[in-house]
Amino acid sequence: MSRKVAVYRKERFNAAHRLHNPALSDEENARIYGKCNLPNYHGHNYELVVEVTGEVDERTGFVIDTKMLSQLVQQYVTDVFDHRNLNLDIPALQGINPTTENVAMVIFDILRPHLDARLTLKIFLYETERNFVAYPA
Ligand code: NI
Repeated sequence: MSRKVAVYRKERFNAAHRLHNPALSDEENARIYGKCNLPNYHGHNYELVVEVTGEVDERTGFVIDTKMLSQLVQQYVTDVFDHRNLNLDIPALQGINPTTENVAMVIFDILRPHLDARLTLKIFLYETERNFVAYPA
């Protein structure tokens, strides 16, 4: 029988973005995204919660060392995203409409290769206190 434990690490970053799909008309973009489509960008205080699930290592008593997890998230995500423009400054987001959904999937793809294959990764990304997404669903 395997017993699994989920470990969470919360990090923060502040970033600007604009929601806009160039395949849609300006009117459609304005209707779908409202103020989030305003051309000169706006900012959010994002909260990123990384969930890592796996079996507890008998030797350490850890699923994953949270200090290492924190360093990983900072090095590859928050240090890269913080105080940047998500539309313009982040190579991994080039050509991607930076909705919370899309940003969460990109963050998953950035972190996944850095974690042991036996561990399960899930991303929770809060754009506001009340609006957040989870990936994978
Ligand atoms: Ni926004």
